[in-house]
Amino acid sequence: MVVPKPEELKKLRESFQAKKQACFILGASGETGKELLAEVLRQQLFSKVTLIGRRKLDLEGPFYSDVKQEVVDFEKLDEFAAAFQGHDVGFCCLGTTKGKAGAAGFVRVDRDYIQHSAELAKAGGCHHFILQSTKGADPSSSFFYLQVKGEAESRVKAVGFDRCSIFRPAVLLCDRQESRPAEWVTRKFLGAIAYISPTFYSVPTVTVARAMANNVVMPANDNQKVEVLENADIHALGKH
Ligand SMILES: NC(=O)c1ccc[n+]([C@@H]2O[C@H](COP(=O)([O-])OP(=O)(O)OC[C@H]3O[C@@H](n4cnc5c(N)ncnc54)[C@H](OP(=O)(O)O)[C@@H]3O)[C@@H](O)[C@H]2O)c1
Repeated sequence: MVVPKPEELKKLRESFQAKKQACFILGASGETGKELLAEVLRQQLFSKVTLIGRRKLDLEGPFYSDVKQEVVDFEKLDEFAAAFQGHDVGFCCLGTTKGKAGAAGFVRVDRDYIQHSAELAKAGGCHHFILQSTKGADPSSSFFYLQVKGEAESRVKAVGFDRCSIFRPAVLLCDRQESRPAEWVTRKFLGAIAYISPTFYSVPTVTVARAMANNVVMPANDNQKVEVLENADIHALGKH
């Protein structure tokens, strides 16, 4: 992947801002989603930002003046189709874990809610969908987690967006509020070895968010409707 230099990125951002596009974010209350929201607002990339989620977030102050919130019931998403209408770009940072939601609940959120949201987004006019998936996602994987994530990718690709960017980060580094002991231990370990091999096992959520924001301002590749960004690509693109 060719990463634009900082001065090129600046120009790309300026011409993107001039288009005055609208975006929505799914999962803005999550660790990556909240960094993404902060990044797109800081860069003033969109004229309107809609957060689509199951609960209203407490966002006060002028920094959030262009933000609209749509509270939806993901089990009855067709009834909330209007929430998805009129957005050029859609970011999806939605997800749960088997530990939190059970196996069926995990499939429901990480595959079915995402597929349904993508379909409503396309019907509502979205032309660029950015999906946060995971390193190793593969519908034929023998690991349940990677298989479900791979199925979600396949189903989003099948929706047929003009442009679809799939992000496959490794373990996310952040100060997670919620207690996930196994992930905490992994994160501490990976945080230490990140000094040795910074781009292989992990990636900070701020880097993922910046890479997503940078991806959106970069021109589409006409020969490639679907682009997959692996962990090293995310590190490279999210540097500046
Ligand atoms: N953890 C990792 O190391 C890792 C590594 C690679 C990829 N990923 C993937 O990256 C994505 C984002 O991860 P993250 O850790 O940034 O997310 P996160 O902090 O767990 O946040 C998840 C988001 O999904 C929403 N959500 C969860 N269950 C829901 C439900 N039943 N109905 C509606 N919304 C629901 C949450 O909303 P509420 O705030 O309302 O709960 C939140 O906005 C996920 O798909 C994850 O699988 C994670």
